[in-house]
Amino acid sequence: MPTLFDPIKLGDIDCANRIFMAPMTRSRAGDGDAPTAMNAKYYGQRASAGLIITEGVYPNIDGKGYVRTPGIVTNEQIAGWKLVTDAVHAKGGKIVMQLMHCGRIASHHNKPDGSRTLAPSAIQAKGEMYTDAAGMQPNDMPEELTADEIKQTIADYRQAAINAIEAGCDGLELHCTSGYLPAQFLSTGTNKRTDNYGGSLENRLRFALEVLSVMSIAIGKGRVGMRICPGNPFNDLYDDNPEETFRALIKAINPMELAYLHVIRMKAGVDNIALAKEFDGPVILNDSYDLERGNRALAADQADAISFARSYIANPDLVERFREDRELSPPDFKTLYSPGPEGYVDY
Ligand SMILES: Cc1cc2nc3c(=O)[nH]c(=O)nc-3n(C[C@H](O)[C@H](O)[C@H](O)COP(=O)(O)O)c2cc1C
Repeated sequence: MPTLFDPIKLGDIDCANRIFMAPMTRSRAGDGDAPTAMNAKYYGQRASAGLIITEGVYPNIDGKGYVRTPGIVTNEQIAGWKLVTDAVHAKGGKIVMQLMHCGRIASHHNKPDGSRTLAPSAIQAKGEMYTDAAGMQPNDMPEELTADEIKQTIADYRQAAINAIEAGCDGLELHCTSGYLPAQFLSTGTNKRTDNYGGSLENRLRFALEVLSVMSIAIGKGRVGMRICPGNPFNDLYDDNPEETFRALIKAINPMELAYLHVIRMKAGVDNIALAKEFDGPVILNDSYDLERGNRALAADQADAISFARSYIANPDLVERFREDRELSPPDFKTLYSPGPEGYVDY
């Protein structure tokens, strides 16, 4: 049985170990939502992870929701990400970019000029988010995407994938949970469309499948993964039958031979660990693991790799600490999303 220290190949991506860094929004992008030298330093410090999955990155300007988050749209953003991937590769690491379109989970205070808040249906999400401009603000009332705008959004994911590869990323992860756009399409509570992107289960799956398909064709299926968390109610998401929805999604993606499926095991009415077994390729499990629990999940054949989020905040050398069985440092939660180096590159 492999342990977390053994190498693994995910599609076309060779990883030196199975201790992965999970995606974490840290709200420290620079001007024009482009990564900076500080962001490159942060990711470079964590390059001994078998794989780094970046913070959520918006694939088009409408996809931005949160304050100071990066994009992969402009030349400036591509150049910024090149700094990041160079820093990781210089230390022998691997990095995939998480593409995160927030859909209706957004405040216009956080978005670039000329962008809009769009969703499968015009249903406002309960809840508030932080903005630099006006403090806590309710989520915007979204506009319903037209059929042409859905086509354009899918095309934008394709271009974002191409841009990410140009920026030196080893692959891409589609963020398909936590109440963001692909999850909004999947779920009955947020998708009330009557065209072929809503209504039946088959129609609700269509958006995510088309995005995965165009990305796979553009950059190669062995470089595309997806993150899910069936039953996750985060960001006011509701689905009548998440187990059925995600079982069907996994069945539909199996023939696509994607690089991996990344599953958050959160207990939310669905046995996500059991569901993950239905995926034919490598599975990354996440949520509240440590070294021992991670190795147990590998030994029980529940997962091929484990991703760690909070442990990576204060332990850039997590792999070495695990190897040497050293104590982990606790993160400072006050600086999770604050601008500047404090609580970011000073651990
Ligand atoms: C500060 C912070 C930011 C996060 N941002 C993202 C994100 O951008 N995309 C995502 O898929 N998950 C995000 N998450 C969720 C984590 O990837 C992970 O699922 C969660 O923290 C549980 O894993 P852990 O127990 O190892 O921390 C974030 C979590 C934290 C703590």
